[in-house]
Amino acid sequence: MAASETTSRVALRPVRETRPWAVDSWQARPAAQMPRYDDPVELAGALENLGKLPPLVTSWEILALKQQLADAQEGKRFLLQGGDCAEAFSDCNNEVIANRLKVLLQMSLVLVHGLRMPVSRVGRFAGQYAKPRSADTETIDGTTLPAYRGDLVNGPEFTPAARRADPARMLEGHARSAMTMNFVRALIDGGFADLHHPEYWNLSWVERSPLAAEYRRMVDGISGAMHFMETLTGPIANFQRAEFYTSHEALLLPYEQALTRQVPRQWGWFDLSTHFPWIGMRTAALDGAHAEFCRGIRNPVAIKVGPSLRAEQLRELIDILNPDDEPGRLTLIHRMGAGGIGQHLPRLIEAVKANGRRVLWVCDPMHGNTEKLGNGVKTRRFANIRSELEQAFDIHAELGTRLGGVHLELTGEDVTECLGGARDLSELDLGRAYKSTVDPRLNYEQSLELAMLIVRKSGAGATGLQV
Ligand code: PEP
Ligand code: CO
Repeated sequence: MAASETTSRVALRPVRETRPWAVDSWQARPAAQMPRYDDPVELAGALENLGKLPPLVTSWEILALKQQLADAQEGKRFLLQGGDCAEAFSDCNNEVIANRLKVLLQMSLVLVHGLRMPVSRVGRFAGQYAKPRSADTETIDGTTLPAYRGDLVNGPEFTPAARRADPARMLEGHARSAMTMNFVRALIDGGFADLHHPEYWNLSWVERSPLAAEYRRMVDGISGAMHFMETLTGPIANFQRAEFYTSHEALLLPYEQALTRQVPRQWGWFDLSTHFPWIGMRTAALDGAHAEFCRGIRNPVAIKVGPSLRAEQLRELIDILNPDDEPGRLTLIHRMGAGGIGQHLPRLIEAVKANGRRVLWVCDPMHGNTEKLGNGVKTRRFANIRSELEQAFDIHAELGTRLGGVHLELTGEDVTECLGGARDLSELDLGRAYKSTVDPRLNYEQSLELAMLIVRKSGAGATGLQV
């Protein structure tokens, strides 16, 4: 995660203040989706400990990513953001982390090769532990308990002890995020992302996939081109490593506050729990605590934009979060559903265009396409995911804007959670390997198929090689 030398191009002037911001000013605002901690002394003790621990990322990495997002806004980069809906503490292990990285690396290789432009890789990992829920409580057989809000807050088991909001989980979440980051950084520094060795990214269980053959043909082509270029120029360092950034929903504000710090030789405050926090759809109220918290930090931030958002609301959110129209600062992740994108995205694009504001448009084709089957299982149809993504490309092209990235829920595990795709998974297949405790994720083949689709939709050829 080396800082890019172009960091200095990002505007360094302070955000124009309309009203004072402080690291705790969000506490005076209505905070949606917050757990109720029953022991204030225990909570204060955990937060005090957290506040003394080292941060998970650095300010220069954050500014380097902001510059990359500024480049993506100008059409010079593509953003690939993906990972679990919710990380589980138990997923903090060698295999899950490495497999997720393999899928993201393979997808980004397809994108770099096909789009002929650099790709920024941002994981939904190393801190994606807090979840918004549609109800505060859950009732089973007449017993009502608090809803599961992610491992950072409580446990998924349906018992009073597991469902209690436990402040010590924030310390555990910080530790597991640090372990995840440490392993990702070590893998990358050790050569795991080296383009000379794409075989490191092979997943044992996908050998017979029809897409694997197409992928292998592409990798062979890239290896040939690299060999040719290095014969002429000598070893090219960029081929040996890839930058990886982290992101998560900035939902649990006491946790985010404890990791938001000032750093030497920089003005302002950085949320050092992640490079790229986002505000979820359920917490994007204009006067809410989440917008208040995010307006004062210097990280690039994203907002999830759903079908119920009014144009006026979006314009005001943009004014609150990026009053100076700073490049790279704001990303809008639209998640409308295949049936809603045609109706809702154009009006929001027109509103942003009319204001002349700079944003990065990213499509999340997952969250608007969640459905419940007759047996209560949550799933998503690959055909709908694909359709929303295709429509997103077309709508942006028609309106003269550009789709600059995708935001996906995916895993490197061999799961069957979304219907359809290359192997045409059916409702019966879902029972075979459904592991998610929250939203259904794309598996390896479905993820790679989407990467290939993005290349086809963007109309790019497949001859370039930039990393
Ligand atoms: C999510 O990204 O897991 C999520 C809950 O998204 P949204 O806020 O868009 O519903
Ligand atoms: Co989700």
